Amino acid sequence: MTAPSPLNLGVLVSGVGSNLQAILDAIGAGRLSARVKVVIANRPGAQALERARAAGVSALTIPHKDFPSREAFDRALVGALREAEVNWIVLAGFMRVLTPEFLSAFPGRVINIHPSLLPAFPGVDAAKQAFEYGVKLTGCSVHFVDHGVDSGKIIAQRAVPIEVGDDLSSLGARIHSAEHGLLVDVLREIAAGRVVPFEA
Ligand code: GRF
Repeated sequence: MTAPSPLNLGVLVSGVGSNLQAILDAIGAGRLSARVKVVIANRPGAQALERARAAGVSALTIPHKDFPSREAFDRALVGALREAEVNWIVLAGFMRVLTPEFLSAFPGRVINIHPSLLPAFPGVDAAKQAFEYGVKLTGCSVHFVDHGVDSGKIIAQRAVPIEVGDDLSSLGARIHSAEHGLLVDVLREIAAGRVVPFEA
């Protein structure tokens, strides 16, 4: 078996960037063999951009509002990611649905982290959805991205219990913490060649 190519990541973000931070920390601590080549935010001022810069990683803002269509925005993303020579894309709190054109530029190499045990509670506010439904167990999922919303093939999941006395904030924090471990574990599997690009 040939060794997998070095893992060169492009990370797309919209907000806080704690999952990005988990990736950067794991790389910094030697727990993940990868490079983050570029971080791109669709929202100016996203805290994730500061985290990238603090780690010496190239950080770009490509505001989706500057583009006349989803396709045009995605073309700009693809251009920046290609320029950075990434070979896997991580959606780490990226709040946009990607077009088929984007996905065909990086076939089977785009993954997303989602704060529920998919297929339960896709879409926005997944922790809130689970909390309000009253489930006793929720969690997080890392999956390949396809044309739907949180509908691609699941790579790995981690369960998180909803405990007596939880509120949305305590539950959200527990899920977030599980996400950080899960995402890094999946990236370690990709780096080792044990998770390979998804072939539709
Ligand atoms: C995470 O809960 C992730 O699952 C969801 O958006 C959130 C991003 O958090 N897609 P952060 O920006 O990584 O802190």
